[in-house]
Amino acid sequence: MRKKVTLITGANGEIGQALIEYLATHGDTAILALDIRPMKPALQKLCYTTIEGDILDTRLFERLVSEYAIQEIYHLAALLSTRAEFTPELAHRVNVQGTLNLLHLAIEQSRWQGQSVKFLFPSSIAVYGLPDLQTKSYAGAVKEYAWNLSTTMYGCNKMYCEHLGRYYAQNYRQLAADPEPYGVDFRSVRFPGLISAYTLPSGGTSDFAPEMIHSAAEGKPYACFVRADTRIPFMAMPDAVKALLDLSKPEKSTLKHLVYNVGSFSLSAGEIKDMVMQYFPEAQITFEPDLKRQQIVDTWPADVDDSSARDDWGWQPDYDARRAFDEYLIPNIAKRYRQD
Ligand code: SER
Repeated sequence: MRKKVTLITGANGEIGQALIEYLATHGDTAILALDIRPMKPALQKLCYTTIEGDILDTRLFERLVSEYAIQEIYHLAALLSTRAEFTPELAHRVNVQGTLNLLHLAIEQSRWQGQSVKFLFPSSIAVYGLPDLQTKSYAGAVKEYAWNLSTTMYGCNKMYCEHLGRYYAQNYRQLAADPEPYGVDFRSVRFPGLISAYTLPSGGTSDFAPEMIHSAAEGKPYACFVRADTRIPFMAMPDAVKALLDLSKPEKSTLKHLVYNVGSFSLSAGEIKDMVMQYFPEAQITFEPDLKRQQIVDTWPADVDDSSARDDWGWQPDYDARRAFDEYLIPNIAKRYRQD
C-alpha cells in the first residue's frame, strides 16, 4: 500500500514553513515536503518525509506517484514578483509549467483514488493591475473580477494558473469520449502582502513591510523602497495559514467560486513606519523609492473586497493591524533578534 500523504511544494518558503508547523502541531497529517533547497532540520522533523527536488522534474513526480497516495496538495513553490522580473522566462517555467506539472499529478491521483484531490493554490494581489494612482484611489477595495490586468510576469503567471486550475477542475479533456470522472478540487486564495515574524521574504515587491519591521527589531537602519503614501493590503502569516486551511474544509458544493480574495488590513508604508516607531522609537527608517519597484506596487490595489470569502466559507482574519503588531509580530520578532 502506498502511504497517504499531503504534498507541500515550496515547503521551505515562508508560507510552507508556517503551514508545516501548524499542521504538525494541530493534526495527524503525514507531510511530504518538497523544496528545491535542503529543508531546515527543524522542519524535517515535523514531516513524514522531505525531498529536495525541482517541480520541473517530471521524473521526480513519477517516482512520487509510485510511492505515495497524495491526498491533498498545497502548491506553494513560486518565484515572487521582483525576482521574476529579472528572469521572466525562468519565472514562467517555475510558476506556470511547475503548476501544470502539479495539476497533472493531481488529476492522476484523483483517478487512482476515485475522488478529486484537493489542490490549494496561493494566488496574489499581483494579478491586479491598476493603470494609475488616481484609478487605484477610486477603485478602493477591488473585487476578484475587476482590474485583472497585471503588469508583472509573476502576476500574469498567477492569473493564468488560476485559469489552469479552473480548467483542470471543470473542463479537463472535455472532448474525450470518456469524460474526466473527478477533476481536481482546485481552490485558491489571492493573498495580500504577507508578514511573518519568523522568516523574511525574498524577491517579493511587498517585502518593504516585513523588511522595515525586522530591520527595526534588529537595530538596523532601513531605507524603504516605496513612497510613504504607498498603500496595499497585508496579512499576518498565521492568518495566511488559516485562510488556506479554512478554504480546504468546506464541501466543494458549497463554494461558489474557485478563487477568493482574502484581506485583513491595509496600511500605507508611512503608517507601517508609524506603528514600528511606537514599538522601536530608535528605529531609523527613511523612504528612498526605487522607481521601478514603486511602479509595480502602484498597480496593486489599496485593498481587496473579500466579501465572497466571508459569505461562502466564513473567512474572518484573526489579526487586524493592531493585534498583528501587538500580539504576533513585535513580541516574536523582538525575541528572534534578542536570541541571535
Ligand atoms: N508578496 C508577493 C510579492 O511581493 C505578492 O504576492 O511578490
